[in-house]
Amino acid sequence: MTRTNEHSKRFAIFSSGRGSNFEAIMKAYQEKRLTHTPVVLFSDRTDAEVIGKAKSFGLPVECLEKDPTESRQTFDKRIWSVLEMYRPDYLVLAGYFKILSSWLIQKFQEPKHEVSRILNIHPSLLPAFPGLHSYQKAFNYGAKVTGVTVHLVEEGVDQGPICAQEAFSIQECKSHEEVENAGLKVEHELYPKTIEWVLSGAYILTVNEVRGQRRHCVRPS
Ligand code: GRF
Repeated sequence: MTRTNEHSKRFAIFSSGRGSNFEAIMKAYQEKRLTHTPVVLFSDRTDAEVIGKAKSFGLPVECLEKDPTESRQTFDKRIWSVLEMYRPDYLVLAGYFKILSSWLIQKFQEPKHEVSRILNIHPSLLPAFPGLHSYQKAFNYGAKVTGVTVHLVEEGVDQGPICAQEAFSIQECKSHEEVENAGLKVEHELYPKTIEWVLSGAYILTVNEVRGQRRHCVRPS
């Protein structure tokens, strides 16, 4: 399964559930649209559908459930104690429903540039509709357009420099399920493409004062 070259980065995929983005990433890797290497799937749910999918791709799986009494940091330290041996350069969150601790986020920051090496996909045009059930929130709100965001992960829910966004019209959608189906198609195209250019280092982080000093991630043309 593992295919490496000297420029290829190693990444761990985190997923808590269905795993349709996981599948899209693995297909992109098989079809060589993705030159970086998934090295392990981590799930925080022993019954997650994604686990069977990872096994069918022959990818190693690690699974740990959070004890309700343990802190986020203690849980993330336990996760790291099993993931460390896979030596991931990046973490790719694909439907991972736990908030990461500051400890893990800091572990995956480039010390010099303070750039996060954790990517997340979120089913809205951030900063609209953060948190869970974002397609449903957009539908219920009566939004005419929603979309998908891929961003670097910093502290706070769905925070961090935006790498890629794609919008789509939901004017004709009659239910939030229709919105989700349309959104997932966009996610499955956008995420592997964005992982490829971000992990290849083909981006710069810029601060635009007009944009309130927020950093965003730009792909140089
Ligand atoms: C996706 O909509 C993703 O954007 C969000 O959670 C959902 C996960 O779906 N973060 P799947 O497990 O990849 O099918």
